[in-house]
Amino acid sequence: MKVTVGVTGGIAAYKAAELVRALQQQALDVHVVMTAAAQQFITPLTFAGITGHRVITGLWDSDGQVPNAHSAIEHISEAQSTEALIIAPATADILARLAHGMADDFLTTMALAAAAPLILAPAMNVQMWEHPATQANLEVLRQRGATIVAPESGHLACGMLGEGRLAKIEDLVRTVLDVLHRRHDMASETVLVTAGGTREAIDPVRYIGNRSSGKMGYALAEAALFRGARVILISAPTRLDPPSGCKFISITSAAEMRQAVLKHLPEATLVMKAAAVADYRPRLRAEQKIKRTGPITIELEPTEDILAEISNLRKPGTLVIGFAAETERPLEHARDKLARKGVDAIVLNDVARPHIGFDSDRNAVTFLTSTSSQELPEMPKRMLADRILDEALRLHRPSQVMAEMNAVSILANR
Ligand code: PMT
Repeated sequence: MKVTVGVTGGIAAYKAAELVRALQQQALDVHVVMTAAAQQFITPLTFAGITGHRVITGLWDSDGQVPNAHSAIEHISEAQSTEALIIAPATADILARLAHGMADDFLTTMALAAAAPLILAPAMNVQMWEHPATQANLEVLRQRGATIVAPESGHLACGMLGEGRLAKIEDLVRTVLDVLHRRHDMASETVLVTAGGTREAIDPVRYIGNRSSGKMGYALAEAALFRGARVILISAPTRLDPPSGCKFISITSAAEMRQAVLKHLPEATLVMKAAAVADYRPRLRAEQKIKRTGPITIELEPTEDILAEISNLRKPGTLVIGFAAETERPLEHARDKLARKGVDAIVLNDVARPHIGFDSDRNAVTFLTSTSSQELPEMPKRMLADRILDEALRLHRPSQVMAEMNAVSILANR
């Protein structure tokens, strides 16, 4: 399996050689890309000697003038053939350039072109690390799905004491193995995800809706796709672009969502109902826009409980996971839903907490089953999506997941 190590220009660049060696010891085919600054700290020859591969040091030929046909597209072929790109050390400069989508050297160009997971191991002076600009850039990259291996605290090359030292090599190796493992672990799954808030028409221009942005559901769809699953995303209206590669079905109301879910349920091995579905709809939809003539009463009728229905209809072996957004006594209400709807797990959102949940880029949830409760702390929704999928897989095929996790930790500990 091919992985690429990107080396940027910091004092810790010499540790990248140790990292390359350690990755090779895991039977990985390691390739190295260096920035111009990295070559001031360590020579390409060191990496060529260790890997047995040519080290890529720039977009252009060595004369710096004319790109040949091969080098002009090399970043694309490298990007497509690698299974993971780890940048270690990652300087403040590369974080800024990646966060802004720049493509002014081979490494940044490759990072943009790569579909493979990106792992960043920052190392720098403590003040540069703590600077709001660096932290903001990291947050942008995290939101886009990059895995960040935070630096450690200790004595830094600059003589200062604090956070900024490259993470331990064994932690970097473990992260690479973990990411590689996740990359294909859902290849046998068809995941049906619902997302967004349904709209129940009152008249031709008005509806009853809710605050769901669809971000949580879209993050789940993207994470599952990334891990090799086939994904069917059934979405109420949102402002988001569906992740490329999924089967996308656009619906508006709870009734339309029900129809689409029932149609595709037989294909699904895993159902994640992240959508906020209306519990009530107007019993009658006015034919014309309702005029303002004084107080009116809209009679509401309950919608069908799709989640409860599919829990009964699913074929054996299909895992069904519901979501619950609660504003009071969250655990109590979520446990009640778990039992009442007959689902395998409930992902509980305490939406009374500020800055997370509805329409936020971050979230914190409790993954609840009839026998366990796992807190997943606040993090970007895309990262949380992976953690939720990890929990779902643990439930779905416990023996296989445990065996694979053991295999990964044996490899990482070797
Ligand atoms: O979309 P975001 O802005 O990212 O916000 C994410 C979220 C908070 C919307 C999401 O993570 C979440 O919690 N979704 C469920 C919200 C909800 O309305 O829960 P509920 O308690 O009303 O419903 C419980 C479960 O039953 C849900 O899985 C829901 O999809 C399902 N349901 C509800 C009503 C209904 N008629 N049919 C259903 O299938």
